[in-house]
Amino acid sequence: MKRDFLSLGQFTKVELDSIFTLTKELKDKQKAGVPHKLLDGKSIALIFEKSSTRTRVSFEVGVYQLGGHPLFLSSSTSQMGRGEPIKDSARVMCRYCDGIMIRTFGQEIVDEFAAFSDVPVINGLTDKFHPCQVMADIFTVMEHKGSYSSLNYAWIGDGNNMANTWIEAAAIFGFPLKLACPKGYEPDKSVIAWAKSKGAELLLTNDPKEAILGADVVSTDVWASMGQESEQKAREKAFAGYCLDDNLMANAKPDSFVLHCLPAHRGEEISESVLEGKNSVVWDEAENRLHVQKAIMVWILGKNNQK
Ligand code: CP
Ligand code: NVA
Repeated sequence: MKRDFLSLGQFTKVELDSIFTLTKELKDKQKAGVPHKLLDGKSIALIFEKSSTRTRVSFEVGVYQLGGHPLFLSSSTSQMGRGEPIKDSARVMCRYCDGIMIRTFGQEIVDEFAAFSDVPVINGLTDKFHPCQVMADIFTVMEHKGSYSSLNYAWIGDGNNMANTWIEAAAIFGFPLKLACPKGYEPDKSVIAWAKSKGAELLLTNDPKEAILGADVVSTDVWASMGQESEQKAREKAFAGYCLDDNLMANAKPDSFVLHCLPAHRGEEISESVLEGKNSVVWDEAENRLHVQKAIMVWILGKNNQK
């Protein structure tokens, strides 16, 4: 049976831990210049219906480092952008390619693509989830703190795709997560309900100070995600008091780490001083997209999951 990577919630802790182990192996090999062409002869399509810097570059370079061939497709220059149905695109592309990554809008688009594709599909971000990013974030925490366990996690800002994915992660990995989101901008209710049914230790508040108090790991993200540009002004008003600045950070542990998936809007969700400050690990976090995604690709395209 093929194995897709559409959300963290579809996996067990053991499975995701094995991806982290593989990430470490591949990162060490890449740093040491040891060849690791585990996708030799394989073609991986990278479909983008939204903009990207990190996801595109890290997937393209990652496939190349693994000895495979990456193909970039944007909706504006493929037939998908002209309305070719998802199920048709999926059934055609899986006959050429060994794996497909897609960045798009609704999670149902990725789900439909995967349902009609005979080859593994990876979610490179939807409105609902950003699983590759949160895997890179947790791997970064492991590198800096030795483990992701026994730490307090805080989310400050929009209840968006990143927040939803952190909630799934809290349920699977079993760490406590406190989220502060303005009224009306809370995370997806069904994701919260699912996580609670798995015993997740979640606290949802409208008070950023309450969420960040005693945190070891603090994450934030833009207030208006891709596709919400027209809401920017209204969101700036609603998110007043949610800027992750030095005042707010004074409530976290002194040796806490700040994560941001990037791109960042300095002076909005995060201050320049925090983004560039001693607690920030955002550049390591961005680099780890490369290493984690290589591991995800190798893991889902492994022996039992090939065409
Ligand atoms: N963090 C992230 O996914 O960045 P891009 O939008 O640049 O890919
Ligand atoms: N929440 C942001 C993440 C960008 C990587 C967005 O969806 O635009």
